Amino acid sequence: MISTAALFIVSLSLFLTCLGEDIIGDPIGCFQDNAGASDLENEMPHASNTVEMCVQACRNHYYKSALIWDASQCFCSSENMHYADGICNKTCVGNSSQVCGGENSYSVYDTGQRTPGPPQNLTLLNVTEKSLHIQWSTPAVTNGPLSNYLIIAEPVSTYVSSTSLGLQTWQYPSSTNKTELLNLHPGTLYNVSVAAAHSDGIAGAYISDKFWTEIGEPSPPPTPEILQSSKGEMVVKLLPAMNDQGPISFYHVVVIFGEDDIIPLKPEFLKNYNESREKDLPFYIAAELTPDKLKPGNENRFTVGDGKVYGKYYNPPLPVDAHVHVSLGVVSSLNGVTKANYAKTSHEQDGIVILNVGNNMVVENVNSGLEVGLSAAVGVFGTLLVLSIVVFFILRKRVARQARRTAEHQELSLEGPIFEVESSGYIHNAYVPEEIEERVDHYKTLKEKVWNIPRNFLDIQNHILGIGRYGNVMRGTVQQRGFPVPVAVHVIPDGEMIPAEKHSMLQDLGVLIRSAGGDTPNIIQLVGICESPETLYVMVEHHPASLKDLLLESRSLNHTPSGEDSEIHKVCSLPERQLLETAAGIARAMDYLSRQKIIHKQIAARNVLMAHGVVPKLTAFGIAQFSRGNEIPDYTRWTAQEIFRSGRYVSKSDVWSFGCLLWEISALGGTPYSDVNTIEVGPRVMRGLRLPQLRLVSDDLYQLMLQCWQVDLDERPSFHECACVLENLLDDSVVHLNLSMYMGFHYEQYIPDMERQ
Ligand SMILES: *[C@@H]1O[C@H](CO)[C@@H](O)[C@H](O)[C@H]1NC(C)=O
Ligand SMILES: *[C@@H]1O[C@H](CO)[C@@H](O)[C@H](O)[C@H]1NC(C)=O
Ligand SMILES: *[C@@H]1O[C@H](CO)[C@@H](O)[C@H](O)[C@H]1NC(C)=O
Ligand SMILES: *[C@@H]1O[C@H](CO)[C@@H](O)[C@H](O)[C@H]1NC(C)=O
Ligand SMILES: *[C@@H]1O[C@H](CO)[C@@H](O)[C@H](O)[C@H]1NC(C)=O
Ligand SMILES: *[C@@H]1O[C@H](CO)[C@@H](O)[C@H](O)[C@H]1NC(C)=O
Ligand SMILES: *[C@@H]1O[C@H](CO)[C@@H](O)[C@H](O)[C@H]1NC(C)=O
Repeated sequence: MISTAALFIVSLSLFLTCLGEDIIGDPIGCFQDNAGASDLENEMPHASNTVEMCVQACRNHYYKSALIWDASQCFCSSENMHYADGICNKTCVGNSSQVCGGENSYSVYDTGQRTPGPPQNLTLLNVTEKSLHIQWSTPAVTNGPLSNYLIIAEPVSTYVSSTSLGLQTWQYPSSTNKTELLNLHPGTLYNVSVAAAHSDGIAGAYISDKFWTEIGEPSPPPTPEILQSSKGEMVVKLLPAMNDQGPISFYHVVVIFGEDDIIPLKPEFLKNYNESREKDLPFYIAAELTPDKLKPGNENRFTVGDGKVYGKYYNPPLPVDAHVHVSLGVVSSLNGVTKANYAKTSHEQDGIVILNVGNNMVVENVNSGLEVGLSAAVGVFGTLLVLSIVVFFILRKRVARQARRTAEHQELSLEGPIFEVESSGYIHNAYVPEEIEERVDHYKTLKEKVWNIPRNFLDIQNHILGIGRYGNVMRGTVQQRGFPVPVAVHVIPDGEMIPAEKHSMLQDLGVLIRSAGGDTPNIIQLVGICESPETLYVMVEHHPASLKDLLLESRSLNHTPSGEDSEIHKVCSLPERQLLETAAGIARAMDYLSRQKIIHKQIAARNVLMAHGVVPKLTAFGIAQFSRGNEIPDYTRWTAQEIFRSGRYVSKSDVWSFGCLLWEISALGGTPYSDVNTIEVGPRVMRGLRLPQLRLVSDDLYQLMLQCWQVDLDERPSFHECACVLENLLDDSVVHLNLSMYMGFHYEQYIPDMERQ
């Protein structure tokens, strides 16, 4: 490789010196061509006056020969001459001491060019963090048979500071015209040059262009240190991050609520305070700081909760009595690609914001041993008071936590304790001491419950279905009992996962395992897993069409050109009974899930897949969820009123969403509240807005929907009751869902934008 590069460079300089010289030798010869000039190509116009002009013109185009015809036309050629001798008795128009061909003859001159001309049309096909996929086409002028292409990539701009990046070279046979240049550095601009060579290995002229590799994910900055926390505020010390894979465009200060610090932060989920509150996310961006704000070596103190605006972000006062973690994110953006990484939060960092009691009393950094700053005036009683308040809050938190676990039974973990992952599997997290006796190797237990698919039973197609929480989701097939079963393959690079992420991934996997084994066919099934040292493949049953697709597809009036068939008397191509059966199937599936203490949170027609177009399969819970393309679904329109109010999900919140799904079925895929902006849905639902009764829906069926939307949770039916009611309606399905055409019928609007973020 090194010698090739050296040759290449030597030849470049040779070529440059050649260009500098301007020696015109005698003609190589005089050749006759009775067919006339017409069969010669590559004419250089206005270059026939002197030999110099014609030679220069052809050399500029990398031809090895220049031909002058009849003192009037200049041609170039990269072929060897093979014509009969001619009579060149004409002098050049611009220099009478030079020969410029004759009638039916041309004088041939050597331009000095030997090597091939530059390849053409160097284009970038694709780019990743570490590779450039390029294509080129053969040189227009080869001056002989090509044997190789030589490629050089020279870094011209990079974010690597310590060691400088070297030049890289590649060599390919001349049959190649595209390649992927590998092992490049992320976030770096490369000057890529491609040249062709004959078998002597000396490269010709190059074509070059500059291309950026995609930026890499920045390394996480150090965990912010909590210096002080007091009423509504928390002072943290921020340290700058390093990034040699791209620029540091911003820092984001992220506030995270809750005792578990297992939420994997992803830039696409982080919102400003207002949006997070609206979506009920337990984290928000409190500030955007430009890189110059965080200087190495400086203290860089930042007050979380000071009520100011940083960048576009509002930094609201922190709620008193809340467990708050603070993370620092590094955001790197270049060429339309944004990547981010976040400082780990740790239990050491766990700060409880405590009310200011009395004068100057500030509880600093609760975890580091209650260093209570007391003013002399308060004395012993003050100390007791503060301690009792602290104890009160801690107890209250604990009680609340336990209450929440039991009341909502939605802890999506595998029956309970919080675990941390180690390479060997799971160890117990001492943070939950009261549950220590439940120590188990959960990963192993998980694996025993599922089919470990041999790799050769699994065929992963090069087709991305979407983006899951832990990686890409590809289309694939698994050979199950000799039959190919279509699956969604969740490709999870678990070798690289941080423990918290792995923990949450396994929880999600556990949910799907727990959902299996019921007697309902209406739940999407985990097919199995397949492990490689770096990657975990999770195979989930997959069907291409969702209930939403099917409903929209069934709008029969849309498929029949008006006037052509006046005989239409159904507005839907599906039978009434099938729609009600679908609804009942979903209710049974949810009945089973709720008995498994799984809260779904995303019930909507889009999350019901239709196996063979008829069997509904509830999906999008646990690990079985992914977003198609870049679309992040928005479930605001299916969200129960108590969630807008308090953010607390309970099993009955799913019943509300199920009511909306019933409406969606009756609206043949219409968007709920399509006349209300997404942002107004929450407030209006809290004030009593409900979806309307459509004319094709019976009072009994609408009554069931209304029951699902009761404010009082006890008034809402259970899924078991929903399933029973729907099954009863099946006997008179055409009465309860009448899809006959009527005067003035129109479809409920479907507005995709209102159903995604
Ligand atoms: C060149 O040679 C041809 C053929 O011998 C002759 O016909 C022609 O007149 C000559 N032209 C000149 C300019 O000498
Ligand atoms: C004409 O051509 C001769 C021979 O190549 C060269 O020596 C001379 O300098 C040229 N004259 C002009 C004016 O270019
Ligand atoms: C290369 O680009 C030129 C224009 O720059 C175009 O005319 C030609 O068709 C292209 N060749 C190939 C092989 O794409
Ligand atoms: C570019 O490469 C990425 C990663 O290999 C791939 O997912 C994507 O489909 C490629 N795009 C094109 C246009 O080839
Ligand atoms: C690359 O080579 C293939 C096969 O030799 C050819 O079909 C294709 O047109 C070439 N592409 C370019 C851009 O020259
Ligand atoms: C790219 O490299 C070529 C030689 O390989 C050089 O001539 C050209 O100036 C370089 N371009 C830049 C921008 O460095
Ligand atoms: C957030 O909401 C508050 C009121 O709740 C409002 O004053 C503020 O302007 C909003 N900020 C942004 C950035 O929308």
